[in-house]
Amino acid sequence: MVRYELPKLPYDYDQLEPFIDTETMKIHHQKHHQAYVDGLNKSLEQVGSASHPQYISSILSNLKSIPESGQSAINFFGGGFENHRLFWETMTPNSDGKPEGKLEDSFDVYFDNFENFKKVFSEKAIAIQGSGWCWLVFNQTYNKIEIITTPNQDSPWILQKIPLLGLDVWEHAYYLKYQNKRPDYVKAWWNVVNWDYVENRFTELPV
Ligand SMILES: [Fe+2]
Repeated sequence: MVRYELPKLPYDYDQLEPFIDTETMKIHHQKHHQAYVDGLNKSLEQVGSASHPQYISSILSNLKSIPESGQSAINFFGGGFENHRLFWETMTPNSDGKPEGKLEDSFDVYFDNFENFKKVFSEKAIAIQGSGWCWLVFNQTYNKIEIITTPNQDSPWILQKIPLLGLDVWEHAYYLKYQNKRPDYVKAWWNVVNWDYVENRFTELPV
């Protein structure tokens, strides 16, 4: 039976300072992410092990394949688990500030340039009402990158879109340091984006 575990961070809790503070990182990872891990394991137990032979992103891509009684919980906790797993990986204390290569070319094609992509992404992230995520995704249907937002812990996988980069705008991600100033958090976050990682995800897309 698949049991999910809290993934280790690829850096220390204090290494994203001053952009993301140590206390927020600790609580976000040890408490919030752990709660999604626990909720996911419990939800999967409740629908039976035979229903979840695949990794969570595959389950989210085809939620209807699991018993209806478990779909809502697995959408929430599974999304929460996978969204945060990716969130940690797409941040780094050693950000190079901008993408290169194929991803940079795609920003030029679909958003005119990288700076404009950041502007549009930031605006959409700031405008999310309540809790949710802003994403750079790959749209497999149209073979292109795009920006989307999702409410709560909804994952792009449930929309059959592949997440490349996601920004958590739940208040738990920023309130200790930034209080109600979400725009300041979004602006600071760009300083810790791991473009090497995002670029690799983009380059290795199964298309
Ligand atoms: Fe979060």
